Amino acid sequence: MHHRLIGIGLAAIILTACTQPVEQAEPFQWNTLSGNPTLVIAHRGASGDLPEHTLEAYSLAIEQGADIIEPDLVMTADGVLVARHDRYLSTTTNISDRPEFADRRRVQGDRDDWWVEDFTLAELRTLRARQPRADRPQDFNDQFLIPTFEEVLDLAAQAGVATEPEVKSPGHFVSIGLDPGPELVRILRQRGLDGVGAATSIQCFEPGFLARLNEEVDTPLLMLVFPMAELDPSAGPLVPTVSLADMAAFADGVGPAKSLVMGPDGSDTGFIAEAHALGLSVHPWTFRDDQPVAPGVDAATELEWIYRLGADGVFTDFPATAVDVRDALAGD
Ligand code: G3P
Ligand code: CA
Repeated sequence: MHHRLIGIGLAAIILTACTQPVEQAEPFQWNTLSGNPTLVIAHRGASGDLPEHTLEAYSLAIEQGADIIEPDLVMTADGVLVARHDRYLSTTTNISDRPEFADRRRVQGDRDDWWVEDFTLAELRTLRARQPRADRPQDFNDQFLIPTFEEVLDLAAQAGVATEPEVKSPGHFVSIGLDPGPELVRILRQRGLDGVGAATSIQCFEPGFLARLNEEVDTPLLMLVFPMAELDPSAGPLVPTVSLADMAAFADGVGPAKSLVMGPDGSDTGFIAEAHALGLSVHPWTFRDDQPVAPGVDAATELEWIYRLGADGVFTDFPATAVDVRDALAGD
């Protein structure tokens, strides 16, 4: 009997221990506008690993877990939107090695180069992409094509990820008779990407272009800004090129240079809270494993800072790192 009582007592202790709630860490609270985890945006694709703005770089970013891929868009002589960051071609393609194009080089502003608007899509297709940064892998140079915007959209749709295209220099293209607006709207409408819930949002540094686009489509729009001090040294370091209040009239979000959002020690400038109060999502740029925000700060630390501040998306050349840091923070 005595033994039986001890047995019952032990069983009760074991049962109690097993039914006690297991001590769990508090789930991480995301300070984003939606309360969802920060989105990882592959800046020019996985451009830290492969030549930027190629289908291969976008595909690698998708494999690495990016939520969104970012094509920058410029226009060809025959009116096709293609993915390139710059209007000039010498730094990201092998055009300088192509004798048949030697006489197409010309000066614009202070740059002597080959310009995308002087070439048809068929001509651009004969080029191959190159890694523009000498300190990044050069092993994939001269292999990959310049993709069209529509090819990037096909890839994203197939993979089930979103896109965040940036229209580069629309004012310049309009001035030479190559307005990117109508072609962009045509593509968005044709693919059903012209609504509020589209898996695409359009970015631009030119507020006039976005305001015009806002009249034509409901696709989310992201106003890109940087410190006004870069244009006018008398402006304070935290004054953006377009005010949040002004952009709220036509944009759904803001893409700020990260210095507007966060100090080099991770301190909060208050930018995100101000934008969120206006209903604007915030996608700062650019996070790079090989370019620390300040000496001694590694990429993971910097990403954790921006996640804790509540950025809704981050542009990064290294999506794999951004996904890893996000998962670690969320306890996944
Ligand atoms: O579009 C966000 C960010 O990419 C802006 O800078 O010069 O890399 O296009 P940039
Ligand atoms: Ca961009």
